[in-house]
Formats: sequence, structure tokens, C-alpha cells
Amino acid sequence: ISYQLKAADQRRSEQFRPTDDIGFGHLRTEHMFLMDYKDGEWIEPRIVPYGPLTMPPGAMALHYGQSIFEGAKAFKHTDGEIHTFRLNMNAARLNHSAAVVCMPAIDEQMQVEAIHALLDVDRLWFPEQDGACLYIRPFVFATEDHISVRSSKNYTFCILMSPSGAYYKDGNNKAIRLLVSKQYHRAVSGGTGSAKASGNYSASLKAAETAQTYGASQVLYLDSKNEYIEEAGAMNHYHVLKDGTVIIPKFTDTILKSITSRSILELGQQLGCEVRQESIKISDFVEGVKSGDIIEAGGFGTAAVVSPVGSYIFEDNSVITVGDGNVGKYTLAMYTLLTDIQMGRQQGPAGWVN
Ligand code: COI
Repeated sequence: ISYQLKAADQRRSEQFRPTDDIGFGHLRTEHMFLMDYKDGEWIEPRIVPYGPLTMPPGAMALHYGQSIFEGAKAFKHTDGEIHTFRLNMNAARLNHSAAVVCMPAIDEQMQVEAIHALLDVDRLWFPEQDGACLYIRPFVFATEDHISVRSSKNYTFCILMSPSGAYYKDGNNKAIRLLVSKQYHRAVSGGTGSAKASGNYSASLKAAETAQTYGASQVLYLDSKNEYIEEAGAMNHYHVLKDGTVIIPKFTDTILKSITSRSILELGQQLGCEVRQESIKISDFVEGVKSGDIIEAGGFGTAAVVSPVGSYIFEDNSVITVGDGNVGKYTLAMYTLLTDIQMGRQQGPAGWVN
């Protein structure tokens, strides 16, 4: 990886006061990683100052959306060192997404090394706010200047980083509301729902906008027959039964395999409760919430971590409230254990934190 470094400038994280609310996603660090795909191989890995990219207007990503991304986070531990969380899973998932939209794979070890190299260069950009992190966004897009609908011959792999706080404005301690939508669907079987394909996210914007008109933060997506629970906006969905059992919808080709969900599945023993996957009928879920058998619910995601859902609104404006509508103890326990492992305050399974 070659480096083209600018002299350290004034934009370092020290510029933000520790009390500033830095929000999610809008700040950038000083550099980015780039690598191109030409003539059948990935070439010229490099770290350059963050800035505009040049691309022909005919670049295929702009026309047919051949574009994928990942989301990961780096954390500063009390020893002052920056650590990452399960990047190998992000790298494998990027290659899954690449396969779904007919892009060439990128060596997974190389992806991880590229992120570590970028973190090394931009380590002074780590935000000092409580609970803040560097959000890492690797992405790949088609750059060939061509108008046919086919897969591109050229691509760019880019990694940018964003000093970030909580994804939801209210942080992770206030329960959000979801709109249960029968009108909008995120994915269909045989489609691209299991990939982090950019088009999946543009296809969700109308639904999210509609959710806001109902006073909801996001949509609870059902399968295309409106029978089973799929995802909660850009998160996997979960609910908790009275005995503390955590249930996540089974991964299908319409659900993204969240690294947070997979981590919680593996942490059941440490959490002291059962965590399992099931296909969940929306009708059973509503019954369970009403009868009090389901006491907590929420979403798992890299950006959102563990986000509690306090209530669900339906398109007829009826509302159901989960438990007392506030953050429950199991949700809090999952959030605390996961963030403690990420922050190095607690030992997680071998190889998770690097
Ligand atoms: C993440 O959780 O990292 C995501 O990629 C979701 C996002 C669209 C912010």
C-alpha cells in the first residue's frame, strides 16, 4: 500500500470538543484508501488525501447501481490503542455482496490490512467524545464507461472513515417506534436482499419517509407475502420472551446477515440466556406483544448496535407497545456486553477484537 500523506493539518479530531455532539456519518478523516480493478486484477492499493474522485459520467455504477458497501467500527480502548471488531466478517460479507452483484472478490486479508493501514494513518482523528468511534465504510463501485446492462470490467474499492457518535439521535437508551408496513418491501426471494447492495438502500428511502409521517423512525419490513418479519430498517430485528430468550429471524436470501446478530447468537452463554433464530409470523409477534409473552424488541446493526423498539404502529394507525415501551433489561444487557467487548472492558471470544 503506497501512502501519499499531506502534512497533518488543522482538521484533526482535537478540533471537536469532547462535549460536542458529532452525530453520525457526516465527518470525515483526512485520508481514504483506494484500489482499482483493471484487466482482471486489483491494482495500485494506496492511501491518499480524502477528496473527490474523478469518474466518467458513463461509469456503470451511476446508471445501473452496481455498487456495494460494508460498515465496521474502530474503538479506542483505555490504553489509548485503536482496535477493530470482527473485520474478517465484514471482509467475507463484502465478497458475498460482490458475488451477488457480479463483481470480482477482494482478498479478505488484504481488506483487513487496508483498514488497519488507514487507521494507522488517521489515528489522530479518533473522536474523544464518550461512546464515539470511527465508523469505517468500505465500498466498491463499477467505473467502466459503458451503457450496456452487464457487469462492468472496471471497479474502484474505496475505504473512508467517519468520526461518529450514535446512529439514532436519541442514542441507544431511548426506544424507537417502527411502522409495520404491508405496502413496502425491502427484498424478495431470489433478489439481492442478503447483500449490502447500494440499491437495496435507495429502495428503502420511500418506506423510511413514509414511516416518518407515522411518527416512526423506521420500517419493520415483512416478507413480500406480508406473513413473516424480516428486517427493521437497516437493522436485523429481534425480540425477547418472558424467560429472556432472544429470537432473531432466520437468515434467508431476503435478510442481511448482521455481524451484530451473529455476535449476539454466539454470546448467548455469556449473556446467560438462549439466543436462537426462527421464522416469526407477524401475527404471532403481535399476539405475543399483546399477551405480554414478548417483553422486549429491537434491532441489531453495526451502526445502530442494539437499538430498542418500544412500539409498533400499523398502517391503520393502531399501535402496540412492547412491555412498558422503555428499554428493557435484556436489551441493556446485550448492549452492555457487546460494547464492553468492543471497548476492551470485557474479554470476548478469541479473535473478535484486533
Ligand atoms: C451499518 O449498520 O453499519 C450499516 O451499514 C447500516 C447503515 C446503512 C448505516
